Amino acid sequence: MTDPSTTTADGAARIDALLAAMTVEQKAGQLTQYFYFVLPDTDAALPDPTDAAEQPRQVEAALARGGAGSLLFVTDPAEINRLQRLVVEGNPHGIPALFGFDVIHGLRTILPVPIAMAASWDLETIERGQAVAAREARAVGIHWAFAPNLDIARDPRWGRIIEGAGEDPFLGALVAAAQVRGFQGDVLGAPEHVIAGPKHLAGYGAALGGRDYDEVDLSEPQLWNVYLPPFAAAVAAGAGNVMSAYMGLNGVPATGNPWLLTEVLRERWGFGGFVVSDANAVKSLVTHGFAEDAADAAARAINAGLDMEMAIAEPAFDHLPEAVASGAVSEATLDAAVRRVLEAKQRLGLLDDPYVDEARAREVLRDPAHREVARVAAQRSAVLLKNEGGLLPLDPGTPSIAVLGPLADSRRDTIGPWVFDFDLDETVTVLEGIRNRVGDAVRVEHARGIPVVQREFPSLFDMFGGNRPEDPEGFDEQAELARAVEAARRADVAVVVLGEWQNMIGENASRSSLELPGRQLELLQAVVAAGTPTVLLLMNGRPLDLRWAAEHVPTILDVWYPGTQGGTAVADLLFGDVAPSGRLPFTWPRTVGQVPMVYAHAISHEPQNQGRRYWDEASTPLFPFGFGLATTTFAYSDLAVDRVSVPVDGTVIVTATVTNTGERAGIAVPQLYLHQRFGSAIRPVRELKGFQRLELAAGESAEVRFEVGPDLRRHWSTAARDAVLEASVFDVWVGADATADLAATFDTRG
Ligand code: GLC
Repeated sequence: MTDPSTTTADGAARIDALLAAMTVEQKAGQLTQYFYFVLPDTDAALPDPTDAAEQPRQVEAALARGGAGSLLFVTDPAEINRLQRLVVEGNPHGIPALFGFDVIHGLRTILPVPIAMAASWDLETIERGQAVAAREARAVGIHWAFAPNLDIARDPRWGRIIEGAGEDPFLGALVAAAQVRGFQGDVLGAPEHVIAGPKHLAGYGAALGGRDYDEVDLSEPQLWNVYLPPFAAAVAAGAGNVMSAYMGLNGVPATGNPWLLTEVLRERWGFGGFVVSDANAVKSLVTHGFAEDAADAAARAINAGLDMEMAIAEPAFDHLPEAVASGAVSEATLDAAVRRVLEAKQRLGLLDDPYVDEARAREVLRDPAHREVARVAAQRSAVLLKNEGGLLPLDPGTPSIAVLGPLADSRRDTIGPWVFDFDLDETVTVLEGIRNRVGDAVRVEHARGIPVVQREFPSLFDMFGGNRPEDPEGFDEQAELARAVEAARRADVAVVVLGEWQNMIGENASRSSLELPGRQLELLQAVVAAGTPTVLLLMNGRPLDLRWAAEHVPTILDVWYPGTQGGTAVADLLFGDVAPSGRLPFTWPRTVGQVPMVYAHAISHEPQNQGRRYWDEASTPLFPFGFGLATTTFAYSDLAVDRVSVPVDGTVIVTATVTNTGERAGIAVPQLYLHQRFGSAIRPVRELKGFQRLELAAGESAEVRFEVGPDLRRHWSTAARDAVLEASVFDVWVGADATADLAATFDTRG
């Protein structure tokens, strides 16, 4: 992947000429990105004291005076062309705008939510999915995705756990690179691809108490060994942009943090692209009590290494000309930022052809191949958590099936949060997927069972149409619950779809509990009490408190928010057309009281009672990291290392045999874990350092092979205050999840 800053010689000359011709005001305009949204009538307060109707007018005035380098939140190609003409004509140098958007898991074709795609542990599927998202985005005139979200999340109370790849830096780094490749293609500027914008640098997922936006305090080992590796991987994969985070990191706001934005990102990692702030995060430097006023915020942000301000209105960067005049910001700093933004526009070909083909946009959005990619991604993301008695796969000839629960037939919830340009008519719910699969011969009865859980106050995201879940007119709680139980009683199988409504997770959607919201557990208990074999389908983005379900429900399949083709994929899994193969990208706690709980924890002085740390509850997870069942069984054996002793920078080949010991074909996900026994710093009890997806027929065995080279053993050490490779003895395990016990050791003191 080429460095995003490299541009051809004549390209550089063209940018030099533009820089020489631009005034300081015009340069400041290039570094300003405006939200442009025409909001539905709403009483929800905007984060900025700007009247919703006034905002578009303000932005158009800025465009007309050539003062906008970028716009976000426009997805209609005709509207993008209209606004682009305003920009090009309002700018004496004809420089067009970059259009950016939150294409997090699809634009029109909605993929499973990112945590679900991470649960596939299938890097090709993840890349393919984001390539579809990029193709649709570019087709409508969006040049830049504010994605992937690379925030490591180890506190499931934090709602944005849904947007990332979970708790582990190794999995997170591989998923990060796959997403960047998917969005950008082989080279930045590739047709039908967009600029990837990994976010939010850095540490956002460690918000205190899981409360979104709260401050973050992380040690250097935690930053270097856990929270930064996915960003390093994204930069190495050639990401063209990075977004700085909202919150304070160790007392310095990420958006005004020179250590983060310059020392780490540019000097250590060699990032050549441009950095954008999160929404209004430059002005928030004042709110944080860090900057004195908007002018000070603008100067400190750009001097820290920020290039572009994402502003809702009245940008702080309007103060940049005065900052340059006063010497608070050098013209060289300003020019360097503008150059990076112009290079991005040049790489995308916008300086020569800034408009989008509206007819082609409609054609691309209709491409059925995109639905198929979404369906496969949903199939491979689902995680089978329990299947007692082999209830799955169901017989498609089952005479009667009750499909119950508030999420079973909710198109809006099926596609999850962080979607805006969706087409609900194309969305297949679980109920629709089951009905389509079994046909008219099977009686399929549906009941919601319980009412929606409403939030006390509308979140910012509830302002966008269709985000607030509603009960149907005249919904009668008691009657509906009774109807659901009766339907279960009459059926041969009950499929209960429970979880969180999609507006209960994502940004500004942390929870203080992990319990199933509302009366869902009551519904589940009543259905199980009816005596009908029950399959629990989970629609979620965080681990939920399943202590009762894990004990009383025979089958539990986590389907997450499976996207546009969700119901079709779920039916494929329920009736055995495809085998479930997802694995958990996070540790699943029993209760919120255990949080945070990670598998890669340090070893205490009493490791033998790691599982009994609480007086009132086990301190083991309900399901371990990497866990996921199949509708067959696998055995691991013959773990071997090719050498038991190697030099400190040597490579060891680890092999093991995986056998499908069941009656059905299935997909195993053998995982390799490593532990360094001693050195200059305590190392986690084990860390994921390799995995593969392996399809095996019934009875088939295969050897898996992992190369454990020095890079997998390098870690950041407080003693050296740098990455180190140390002579030590290493434990290695290969198995089905983080509890793998097939072990070997090797020594690097050789
Ligand atoms: C939001 C999010 C960020 C998103 C941006 C634009 O507040 O923090 O992830 O890309 O604003 O919507």
